[in-house]
Amino acid sequence: MLENAVLITGAGRRIGLHIAKRLFDDGHTVIAHYRKYTDDINILTDMGITVIQADLNHSNKILQFVANLKTCCLSFRAIIHNASSFEATSENLSKAAIQFDNFFNVHMKAPFLINQSLQFLMVGEINDPANIIHITDINAKNPTPIFDIYGATKAGLHNLTLVLAKKFAPTIKVNSIAPGPVLFAEQHSGQTRGQILNETLLAKEGGAESVYLAIKSLLTNPFITGSSITVDGGRRLTKS
Ligand SMILES: NC(=O)c1ccc[n+]([C@@H]2O[C@H](COP(=O)([O-])OP(=O)(O)OC[C@H]3O[C@@H](n4cnc5c(N)ncnc54)[C@H](OP(=O)(O)O)[C@@H]3O)[C@@H](O)[C@H]2O)c1
Repeated sequence: MLENAVLITGAGRRIGLHIAKRLFDDGHTVIAHYRKYTDDINILTDMGITVIQADLNHSNKILQFVANLKTCCLSFRAIIHNASSFEATSENLSKAAIQFDNFFNVHMKAPFLINQSLQFLMVGEINDPANIIHITDINAKNPTPIFDIYGATKAGLHNLTLVLAKKFAPTIKVNSIAPGPVLFAEQHSGQTRGQILNETLLAKEGGAESVYLAIKSLLTNPFITGSSITVDGGRRLTKS
């Protein structure tokens, strides 16, 4: 059985994958959650990282995921909620209703149920609290109309950060990291990428490591809770 593990969700690719590897390199016992199997999952297991599959879009699957976690891990030092669904809201209301449920489940219900279920297994004390980190988005505070449901559910996740910081104090810290343009998505066209970079003061993609460095600073600072660290190269100041 694992002890003092750091759980990261959505670690099968991109930013989550990078964070799982970097946490392991820094000496943490890592549990990496993924949804779709990729060759990168093999790389994680070869490194010695425990991987667990789950679709976080359904209450019963979220609760089964928690039950599976408890069969392999006695205690947790940190939980990082990185899993996320990102797409523009459909004009078709039937499709938008399905998107709404998906965003709500992945961005809000899964973090709530996982945090609630694992709180008593988290290893923390007043002088060295445990950690919950929610990965939100600059859209939570300055939303983009075409991504309204995505942004609203990320704002809900930010609100969970505030309320759980109150609820779980003083032995668990709860914070958010709000990325801006860290890694472009496949669906971003060349024109959109150019526009985003023009709106970013530091004029580049931040890269997954910029998020990891924010995580590292939260994991090592015992006196930050209920806060959000923005990792956006300044885009929130110029974003339309
Ligand atoms: N990339 C950026 O520039 C940027 C900007 C702002 C905020 N963020 C935030 O930073 C985090 C990482 O970003 P990213 O670009 O690496 O995200 P991403 O490419 O969209 O990856 C998200 C991860 O979440 C998983 N996921 C999605 N739906 C799921 C579900 N129903 N059940 C379980 N897992 C699910 C995906 O699994 P599958 O592989 O199975 O799809 C994937 O591993 C996210 O929280 C995102 O909102 C990123």
